[in-house]
Amino acid sequence: MNLQKAIVAQFKKPHGSFGRIAGWIMANRRSNQERNRWTVDLLEINPSDRVIEIGCGPGVGLGYCLERAKEGQVLGADHSRTMLDQARIRNAEASVGGRLDLQLGSFDDQPDTVGLFDKAYSANVIQFLPDRAAAFNKIYALLKPNGISATTYMPRGKNPSRAQSLSMAEDVKRHMKAAGFVTIRVEELPMSPAPAICVIGKHP
Ligand SMILES: C[S@@+](CC[C@H](N)C(=O)[O-])C[C@H]1O[C@@H](n2cnc3c(N)ncnc32)[C@H](O)[C@@H]1O
Repeated sequence: MNLQKAIVAQFKKPHGSFGRIAGWIMANRRSNQERNRWTVDLLEINPSDRVIEIGCGPGVGLGYCLERAKEGQVLGADHSRTMLDQARIRNAEASVGGRLDLQLGSFDDQPDTVGLFDKAYSANVIQFLPDRAAAFNKIYALLKPNGISATTYMPRGKNPSRAQSLSMAEDVKRHMKAAGFVTIRVEELPMSPAPAICVIGKHP
């Protein structure tokens, strides 16, 4: 396996030194910062909101959430200890101050706690979750009434295309509808070589 492949293979669950490099890339790549900021803007976070990011990685998106939820609480969930360590360092002030919680574990095993959050989001994580129906049922349960869910995805690998982005959007929409979300819409962010999509829906 060449070096690039070894690092790309880390994005699902970064660990060890290649995992730390993958985290550094995610945190510093302009397009990843832009994708996360765009998604967080679509969540329309209010100052007192409680927000969860699923698969928070090195914590770039958590920083954007914390800037907006100034009097609120942010939870970053990820099954990679390497990523949570980076997220903690990147958002040290909020972590020490108690505005940021970091939770280690697979989202699939997250307990079905009801109505805890105003906003829930993920960026480039949905492709790794083994059971999307269960994932959106869980997100629905975690949100308060009127809560908002945003799911962003941009295809990778060989020849990523807009068709792949839109196909994922359709699949996410289907699962969100089945889970009970309403006013579901898709936004597109032009990126190279394929656009990022974000599917947004509301808990009634
Ligand atoms: C491609 S990275 C994206 C990280 C971050 N969202 C970003 O945009 O910078 C995917 C992240 O999702 C996490 N992840 C993948 N599957 C997961 C699962 N089932 N439960 C929790 N975290 C998961 C990985 O550990 C990794 O940090």
